[in-house]
Amino acid sequence: MNNSHQPIGIFDSGIGGTSIWKEIHQLLPNESTIYLSDSKNAPYGQKTPSEILNLSIKNTEYLIAKGAKIIVVACNTATTNAIQHLRNNYNIPFIGIEPAIKPASLNTKTSKIGILATKGTLNSALFEKTSSTLNSEITIIEQVGEGLVELIEEGKIHSEEMTNLLEKYISPMLEKGCDYIVLGCTHYPYLQPQIQKIAGKNVQIIDSGEAVARQLKNVMSEHNLLNNSKTQSSNIFYINKEKSVLENILKDYKNAKTEFLDF
Ligand code: DGL
Repeated sequence: MNNSHQPIGIFDSGIGGTSIWKEIHQLLPNESTIYLSDSKNAPYGQKTPSEILNLSIKNTEYLIAKGAKIIVVACNTATTNAIQHLRNNYNIPFIGIEPAIKPASLNTKTSKIGILATKGTLNSALFEKTSSTLNSEITIIEQVGEGLVELIEEGKIHSEEMTNLLEKYISPMLEKGCDYIVLGCTHYPYLQPQIQKIAGKNVQIIDSGEAVARQLKNVMSEHNLLNNSKTQSSNIFYINKEKSVLENILKDYKNAKTEFLDF
């Protein structure tokens, strides 16, 4: 039976993956989605690879039980630590997200690119492998964004604490001459305006959200999973913690419904 009418499943350690959901919804407005925000367990970035893998398995099984036809791992940390296992063990397609260091390396004029990501992503074997394929003249300045996910989850995007952390993390990249800053965590696009202000207009800030949405559409088309019916799409966001920050992030989307989940 064709399951194209079923929803796209999306998960993240928290609310950051909504930055990916927004790209997906813009490109594929006709598709229904189920989003799982595992905020109770955020941040994943400070956990061990096996903890990240186990949480990713749990999230995947929940979304499959809810009828997901394809899963987007809207978390760099979960992708870099778990996607191979998920692809090997579940019989639906998976789309992952990795920091956009390749496009940055192709466009930099100073040959120096900064990357802001979680410890779990920067220490992963997959990130190591992707970095090793870059032109050897490229220098990558890695910075763990410790504390940023927690503040975003608490709705403190515009706090003084956030400004201080961002200045501490971004300044060394600027001092070393980076002209590209890669946002390697799906929470960080919500910090883009503040990072741009610190970095100045000559520094490009990039993330992978749009590319992930395009890749999702291609894979769905290959697998005959695109929903061609004209029925209204439904978008449900499950969260296992207080939901006001998530609701605020989605306030402009009238067709997005949030629900607390004891998970
Ligand atoms: N949004 C997750 C990512 O892209 C955040 C990870 C975390 O919870 O530390 O990596």
